[in-house]
Amino acid sequence: MIIPVVTIDGPSGAGKGTVSRAVAMQLGWGYLDSGAIYRSLAIATAQQGVDVKNVAAVVKAAQDMLLEFECAAELIVKLDGINITSELAAETTGNTASIIAAYPEVRAVLLQKQRDFRKAPGLVADGRDMGTVVFADAEKKVYLTASAEERGKRRYKQLKEKGINANLLQITEEIESRDRRDRERVAAPLKMAEDALHIDSSQLSIEQVIKEVLDWVR
Ligand code: C5P
Repeated sequence: MIIPVVTIDGPSGAGKGTVSRAVAMQLGWGYLDSGAIYRSLAIATAQQGVDVKNVAAVVKAAQDMLLEFECAAELIVKLDGINITSELAAETTGNTASIIAAYPEVRAVLLQKQRDFRKAPGLVADGRDMGTVVFADAEKKVYLTASAEERGKRRYKQLKEKGINANLLQITEEIESRDRRDRERVAAPLKMAEDALHIDSSQLSIEQVIKEVLDWVR
């Protein structure tokens, strides 16, 4: 039996996480936050004092890390048995994640960890290459974008709500440079799958986006 997958890819701050979680809940399916895997690896390398330019050492950290995901009201992530959820959202974590995510060897190690999330009755997978690489055979693919300005504002709000200190201009610039790195890398760059539905969420509420995705899936 083929287990259905809905992929939701796009740049940072487009609303992928919120939309994916809501769609997964409505469908009664599992949810994969693939960015959290790259972010967890970023935390693992920082904890071990690994130089992120040392590809072999980053690959080793990726092979060794034991990750556990628990889907409660929010996603809880444990790295080697320790809850790292509160560290995941930091911008520095996202930036380091984007540096190590550019290494093809690292992506190869993390590929199976992501595919293991495909379990009955179905999966909603959120990331950059869900529809183009990891679940290229997914039947329903969405590419969710929003203007850089809007994405900066949303990320700023998210960080503030989590009690993390942030500067809007700096956040917007960091988002833009991270997106550039994600788009321009050779290994699994951020791009729209040919068969994806493109939704620009700049002028839409999160509820409108969720409805559009659910209508498309159903
Ligand atoms: O989505 P999130 O902001 O948590 O992702 C952090 C970083 O991890 C991204 O900027 C990207 O470089 C990397 N990533 C990736 N492929 C994915 C998900 C995330 O390369 N499928």
